[in-house]
Amino acid sequence: MTVKQSPSNLSTLNAISNEYSSVNVSQSGRGLCLNIDNLHASASLSLFGGHLLSFIPKRDQRERLWLSEDAIFDGVSAIRGGVPICWPWFGPKKSDKPSPSHGVVRDQMWTLYRLEERKNSGGEVCESICYLKPSQLSRYSTPEDLSLTLKLSIAEHCEIALVTENNSDQPVELSQAIHSYFAIDDIESLLIVGLNGTYFDKLSNTFDLKSPPNYRINAETDRVHTRASSSDKSEGISLVFSDKNTKQNTLSIEHNGHNATVVWNPWVEKSSKMKDMREGAYRKMICIEAATEPSINLAAGQTHVLTQRFN
Ligand code: BG6
Repeated sequence: MTVKQSPSNLSTLNAISNEYSSVNVSQSGRGLCLNIDNLHASASLSLFGGHLLSFIPKRDQRERLWLSEDAIFDGVSAIRGGVPICWPWFGPKKSDKPSPSHGVVRDQMWTLYRLEERKNSGGEVCESICYLKPSQLSRYSTPEDLSLTLKLSIAEHCEIALVTENNSDQPVELSQAIHSYFAIDDIESLLIVGLNGTYFDKLSNTFDLKSPPNYRINAETDRVHTRASSSDKSEGISLVFSDKNTKQNTLSIEHNGHNATVVWNPWVEKSSKMKDMREGAYRKMICIEAATEPSINLAAGQTHVLTQRFN
């Protein structure tokens, strides 16, 4: 295992790629990205937003994440697709001041401050782990002593962990989401398995609706599913869908540290009003998000870890 502390400027990042065989840096139309390629998978992470853009396991070479063909990479707008990080609030902020939707970290640069590689006995890198922090929390009205670390692990699975530390002497309200857009062949072939409890329907503002036993999406969907169990154990969800050759694919997702799973698809009308979504693109994606929504109360001195893992 090797460890490196580093700021995120291009020359330092380039120096890292010489030291870590599974990570290199690119500066392109997609901005500054870390590109990971190890024994098990390849991945690409934008330093803008700490935003994972791609995860492709080598066992089948199938892209797991949907990224909009019309995503805007202007270093200002949040990127449509991949895995946006929503923190320290989810959705609109309950406040009088105008505040960005989904918090303050998806539209700022992040700093890579540590990398690790794990190797097998043959010296091949089988896991690459990147640790990043948002670089400008103080610009916003984020409680000063609240800190966030994104830990991204690329191996046979992709694991994203959001580690929030409350270093103040006051409790802090925290809502957040790992807002993953998963790639599917067609929304009408999708079956979601494992969401069995009740949900809040954001579209009709209705609480306690029962999750459908045969969970399919055939209209605009915006739901916050309450976690079925309050235990510390992880909760598993599977996406089952067919591709154009009618081969059945399964993508397994595991959440930990959450109190809700959000399911979102904008469908025809809403996506037609979004400048960063192409016509018909809503059919190719489903958002399954690990969230703390409603917010949790993070006591003084406490750390919270929200995790999503998928393969
Ligand atoms: C989902 C929310 O998580 O994100 C939706 O539940 C929202 O209400 C969607 O529309 C997309 O949000 P944004 O800000 O990326 O367009």
